[in-house]
Amino acid sequence: MPNTLLIRGGRIIDPGQEIDKTGSLLIKEGKIAWLGDGAPPENDYDTLDAGGLIVCPGFIDLHCHLRQPGDEEKETIATGTLAAARGGFTTVCCMPNTNPPLDNESMINYIKAIAANESPIRVLPIGCVTVGRKGEELVDMGELEMAGAIAYSDDGSPVVSPEAMRQALEYSRDFNRPIIDHCENLFLTQGGQINEGVVSLELGLRGIPASAEELFVQRDLDLARETGGHVHIAHVSTEGSVELIRAAKEEGIPVTAEVTPHHLTLTDEAVLKHKTYAKVNPPLRTKRDTLALLRALNDGVIDIVATDHAPHTAADKNCEFTQAAFGISGFETALGSLAGLILNSELSLNTLIAALTVGPARILGYEKLGTLEVGAPADVTIFDLHKEWVVDASQFASKGKNTPLDGQTLKGKVMATLFQGNPVYMDEAMKIESKKE
Ligand code: DOR
Repeated sequence: MPNTLLIRGGRIIDPGQEIDKTGSLLIKEGKIAWLGDGAPPENDYDTLDAGGLIVCPGFIDLHCHLRQPGDEEKETIATGTLAAARGGFTTVCCMPNTNPPLDNESMINYIKAIAANESPIRVLPIGCVTVGRKGEELVDMGELEMAGAIAYSDDGSPVVSPEAMRQALEYSRDFNRPIIDHCENLFLTQGGQINEGVVSLELGLRGIPASAEELFVQRDLDLARETGGHVHIAHVSTEGSVELIRAAKEEGIPVTAEVTPHHLTLTDEAVLKHKTYAKVNPPLRTKRDTLALLRALNDGVIDIVATDHAPHTAADKNCEFTQAAFGISGFETALGSLAGLILNSELSLNTLIAALTVGPARILGYEKLGTLEVGAPADVTIFDLHKEWVVDASQFASKGKNTPLDGQTLKGKVMATLFQGNPVYMDEAMKIESKKE
């Protein structure tokens, strides 16, 4: 058990409790023990100075790929969670598109066992919706539920069969779990490489139209309306999807949605410069789309930010465009890429923190995560909104060096991540002072 620790003098932002004030946080036995602006109710503690920094609940990532088992050359649970901790994440939900996929009890148990031994943070496994992620036959959701799946998804692929999706939503209602859908009409995306538009024309690459996503979003919303099951739309990328989700929320359909840092900050023009490193699914869209996504995040139509951390090897990316894998390694640049939006007044700081903390916790139904409430696990992220740093992918903890941001100067850096009171990442400028008063 770590020592009692006082995180002193930071700007504490906890949107779940509507707290935004300068103060200190006392951590005892791995839990939040006190939060206030006077002297703590103890006098025997170590100290971490957070003056000038933001102190908030540990980030929760509802959507990432850890690749184990089966693709350990791309990432492992150990390397992925270390990268997540560096990015300020204390909880990550891993997608089931592993090899074999997480479609039965023993696979969920496998993830839990490896994570218990090798991860510095919390790993919550997402089970498949369909057997083998083939999009046809529903998994035994009761079995996965008992094993500890915290949501269901065929991510990387859509739940092709509307019947399977409908059944999954019916179970989701009973289990109180979200069904996370990767919305993609495969008939419209076959052979597609990047967004269908001016850039795809210019490069002579087959385009992926907005309708490929939107047709599926519409289908899922219809099924959620009919069943009352909770659908969560993964990596929303188009203005049209945003408008469908907005209307569905107004109607009271149980839908939540996420957006990635890359869909908020980059457009398809990034492909001109970064080539395969900007190849991702769904593809980077247009400025009009990024603006719609940003508006939707600000006004609550999009609930959360999720990284879709998708590590790949150099060989997966340094090849012909059409052969390259889709995906961006996202844990270690998430905050830095989004802080720019705050510094430009395009996104509010409290909205961003909510989207990374209490937002995902509420989607998962965890009242004690994503908050600095007294008694909650002391999962804490400390960051400097203004600190400049240069992205050096070769130094990533993640095996996936595939980022279009390599070499870029970003503002906004994670300075420390604490999981259950334990420092799991500390910038070299941070130091815990042992002190008895
Ligand atoms: O770009 C992506 N990469 N999108 C997905 O949906 C899957 C992911 C992966 O697993 O590489």
